[in-house]
Amino acid sequence: MVVIEIVTGDITREQVDAIVTAANESLLGGGGVDGAIHRAAGPRLAQAGGAIGPCEPGDAMPTPAFDLDPPVRHIIHTVGPIWEGGDHGEADVLASCYRRSLQVADELDARTVAFPAIATGVYGFPPDQAARIAVATIRSASTDVQRVRLVAFDDDSRRHLEAAVAATA
Ligand code: APR
Repeated sequence: MVVIEIVTGDITREQVDAIVTAANESLLGGGGVDGAIHRAAGPRLAQAGGAIGPCEPGDAMPTPAFDLDPPVRHIIHTVGPIWEGGDHGEADVLASCYRRSLQVADELDARTVAFPAIATGVYGFPPDQAARIAVATIRSASTDVQRVRLVAFDDDSRRHLEAAVAATA
C-alpha cells in the first residue's frame, strides 16, 4: 500500500528517488514546474528529453536527474491533458499520467516519488478534480513504490489534495 504524503513547496527540493515533471510532448522543457526542474537539473535534461521524445499525453518516460542532488536519480516526464471542458477524455489521460509514472518508477526500482499537480497550471485542469484523480489512481495502482509525495505549490492546491486524501481515507 503506497503511503501518500502532501507537502507544500518546490518539487526541486524533494529528497526522493524520482521526481515527476509535468512536461510537454517535446520533453525539451517549458515553464511552470517543468521549467523549474529543467533549471535545477541543468541543460543535459533537455538534451536527454529531446533524445527520447516526443511523449504522448498520458504516457511517461524517464531520464537521469543530472545536476539534481542525491537521492534524486531520475526524472519521470509525463504529459498531462490540456483541459477542454472535460468531455474529451481529459480525466482518463490524467489518470494515465499517474499510472504510467508509477509503472516507470517500478522499472527504475524507485521507491519514493514526488509528483506535482499535473495539468492544473498552464493546461487548466480543475485542481479539485485533478487531486481526486491523482489520489484515486495512486491508491489503486499495483506498484512497488512505497511513498508518494504530492507537492503542492500553493495553499489552494494543498487544500484540494488534502480533501482528496481525506475523502478516500
Ligand atoms: N514545484 C512544485 N509545483 C510547481 C512548481 C514547483 N517548482 N512550479 C509550478 N508548480 C505547480 C503549478 O502551480 C501547478 O499546480 O505545478 C502544477 C502544474 O502546472 P504547470 O507547470 O503549468 O504544468 P501543466 O499545467 O501540466 O502544463 C504543462 O506547461 O510548463 C509548460 O512545458 C510545460 O507545456 C507544458 C505545460
